[in-house]
Amino acid sequence: MKKIILDCDPGMDDSMAIIMAAKAPQLELLAVTAVSGNYPVEVTSANARKVLELLGRQDIPAARGMARPMVRPAPPDPFTHGSDGQAENFLPEPSMPLAEEHASDLIIRLARENPGEVTVLCTGPMSNLAMALVKEPALAGQLAGVVAISGAFGLNRYAFLNATGDTPQSEWNVYVDPEAAKIVYESGVPLVALGLDVATHFDVNFSPEDIAAFAESPRPEARFLSQAIRFAAGRGFEAYTTIIDCMAVAYAIDPTLVKTIQGRVGVETQSPLTLGMTVLDRRHHFVWEHLPLIEIGAEADYGRFLHLLRDLVLQ
Ligand code: BDR
Ligand code: CA
Repeated sequence: MKKIILDCDPGMDDSMAIIMAAKAPQLELLAVTAVSGNYPVEVTSANARKVLELLGRQDIPAARGMARPMVRPAPPDPFTHGSDGQAENFLPEPSMPLAEEHASDLIIRLARENPGEVTVLCTGPMSNLAMALVKEPALAGQLAGVVAISGAFGLNRYAFLNATGDTPQSEWNVYVDPEAAKIVYESGVPLVALGLDVATHFDVNFSPEDIAAFAESPRPEARFLSQAIRFAAGRGFEAYTTIIDCMAVAYAIDPTLVKTIQGRVGVETQSPLTLGMTVLDRRHHFVWEHLPLIEIGAEADYGRFLHLLRDLVLQ
């Protein structure tokens, strides 16, 4: 089993990512760590525990992390995930306690205790992981890797058509805390960035039969997804918006689902026009060799991805 930590800002699609990660037999979910992003960290850390309780998985520790980005205030989220941050599923308040450690300390400890084995999945702003790397520089060499829903690389038309940040070519998780993303991208940790190019493809649509199966399932997590799809549709959004973050979990389960390319990426932290932009250097000359090579999601098998997700939710 692959050991993972899910660092997230639930968020309806982050909630679905927790569901997938906790249920996948190929994964051992060591902890869920929450960060400020779609909502303040008080909300995201409560929402993470609500989902774990929905699944009866109070055994998985949930930690609260950064209440704001590394150096700037948190921007308000223009894409609301509903008044509860969970597509108005209105799950009961959690009764399980938060882990005593700060999320960044929990990440550092779990990586130290399992050297070379832990993969961090980042489905929110990278503030917790960046703080962990600042506190413990050895962490980059102790992790098996990082798989992140992060960036927009201009590899296809979805990259910018679906831009989720407040600047036209930025992705929300990077836009919220670009300094954190810069720290992680430049840390040398083995990084797979699944950007809007692959994670927001309009082909990510469930069939009417799948949607009916979710609604009729006795499983509360299937009904959670059913409500999320209904909620997104009511606001004019495609089904893909309910499961963007699931792509990181799917990749951890089966990396053959996504084809990646290697590249060097600079993160814009200054310009108000392009704040949060992830600039992929595709040149064959004057290449930014001071930046490490990372893997960038370029194409995905959406049919297999949806199949995997559907089966995990319904089983
Ligand atoms: C990201 O933005 C958030 O709203 C989603 O949860 C996802 O992590 C996509 O840009
Ligand atoms: Ca998210």
